[in-house]
Amino acid sequence: MLSTIIRKVRTLLHPARGVKISAVRKAEILLENKNGYRTFIETGTEFGGTIKSLRHAFEHIFSIELDQQLYEDAVMRFAGDSGITLYSGDSARVLPEILKTIDEPSLIWLDAHPPGRITRRNSPIIGELETIFAHHHHHTVVMDDARHFSFPAIWEIRWKARRAGYECRVSEGLLYLK
Ligand SMILES: C[S@@+](CC[C@H](N)C(=O)[O-])C[C@H]1O[C@@H](n2cnc3c(N)ncnc32)[C@H](O)[C@@H]1O
Repeated sequence: MLSTIIRKVRTLLHPARGVKISAVRKAEILLENKNGYRTFIETGTEFGGTIKSLRHAFEHIFSIELDQQLYEDAVMRFAGDSGITLYSGDSARVLPEILKTIDEPSLIWLDAHPPGRITRRNSPIIGELETIFAHHHHHTVVMDDARHFSFPAIWEIRWKARRAGYECRVSEGLLYLK
């Protein structure tokens, strides 16, 4: 009984808690949110799985990776594809540079974080969002692993998003800003 109440309160405070979906489903969801956009921007390239799944759907893909070896592997993997631009570095610093070159609404996938709990301190998420909210176009933003966001981080994201005129929604463990 008590555990049910605790679970319900936790879900109310943090709706993504416990929800985990497959990489295939994530790619499907991103495609469902294409909205006719031509550009896809990703933070956290890792092995390039999402780039590979979405390449056919977008004219241009930008992706940023902090880990130098993962970045170099991705450069090798996508060599020769001029529709993919890869960046090495911290997405909090690189995303503003990419957005300076973007003059249309885009689909932005925020997936740069260390494994485990995600806070405003150990991930670039708040800085990334502030950059997106300051941009002159209104984008669609999808954030992975919402279940790992700390309570303060998820509430700060929701609050800042609403102030910036974005509607915030959690579904299938992903956080959407539209
Ligand atoms: C969950 S993986 C990304 C998976 C990938 N987006 C996909 O869908 O296939 C997270 C990646 O973010 C990277 N990362 C962590 N902090 C970062 C930062 N500040 N800037 C850029 N990349 C970062 C990690 O090195 C890791 O490769």
